[in-house]
Amino acid sequence: MKLTVIGAGNVGATTAHIAAVRGVAREIVLLDIVEGIPQGKALDIYESLPILGQDCRVIGTNDYADTANSDIVVITAGVPRKPGMSRDDLLSTNAGIVKSCAEQAFAYSPSALFIVVSNPLDTMTYLTLKVTGLPRERVLGMAGVLDTARFRSFIAMELGVSVKDVSAFVLGGHGDSMVPLIRYTTVAGIPLAELLPSDRIQALVQRTRDGGAEIVQYLKTGSAYYAPATAVVEMLEAIVHDRKQILPCAVLLQGEYGLSDVVCGVPVKLGRNGVEEILSIELTAEELEALHRSAADVRRTIERMETLLAQQSS
Ligand code: LAC
Repeated sequence: MKLTVIGAGNVGATTAHIAAVRGVAREIVLLDIVEGIPQGKALDIYESLPILGQDCRVIGTNDYADTANSDIVVITAGVPRKPGMSRDDLLSTNAGIVKSCAEQAFAYSPSALFIVVSNPLDTMTYLTLKVTGLPRERVLGMAGVLDTARFRSFIAMELGVSVKDVSAFVLGGHGDSMVPLIRYTTVAGIPLAELLPSDRIQALVQRTRDGGAEIVQYLKTGSAYYAPATAVVEMLEAIVHDRKQILPCAVLLQGEYGLSDVVCGVPVKLGRNGVEEILSIELTAEELEALHRSAADVRRTIERMETLLAQQSS
């Protein structure tokens, strides 16, 4: 298994590090346009492996030729948010970056599976699908696992229970209109609504929606990376170990939930072949409406991106 991580910033390097620690791949290539950074970080990661007893090649590079024949490519390249910015504010900068990364990586690894992490997440996943022409089973975005992990963390904090007891699902776009599903959220099997009053649940939902911005507010010069990178590695492990794990991921919808030609977070079954199934779970009218509102936000961003890219190429 050869893994390429594009972008050696905090998210990319941390993803490469956790993937190496967990022995996800035989070879990890960390690529960035900045000279020295991927080489230095890759060597540093490799030097941790004798202590961990893990055996894997870790290479840092500026040359896409080194990524040839990757099984999985993770795109983290682009700029992160600053305080006060929404993920959509990154569109004009990141669309050009992600397009170029996807084109170059695909040229060297035409049968790879792509996981997109750059923001605005759903739109960058859509762009990667279009640029590579790959089937939707092989291009997915990481957001739902992160948003769900945040929601689970806040619930565990509130109730003073183990994070392991909390099971949840956050669907929709990775933006302010994401959709935490309360009815599908349980603590050791007990529905959340039986454990917390609705105003407290709503406060946790709001904190989840603002979860990325909360970290940006603290860091000031960048966004979260430990939880995002860990979320990517959970998806990698589901694929590499053919776990058939049900995780919320951003995928292209073609009729599911009454949505088409838009990328949005929904529960999928992840295994060796990537997205092996898109689960259509039952939603109430209100939940479905929230999912459609969130998808409409993504669609607007996709349309803005298409205009921007058309302008840039004319
Ligand atoms: C976040 C960014 C990575 O949610 O989108 O932290």
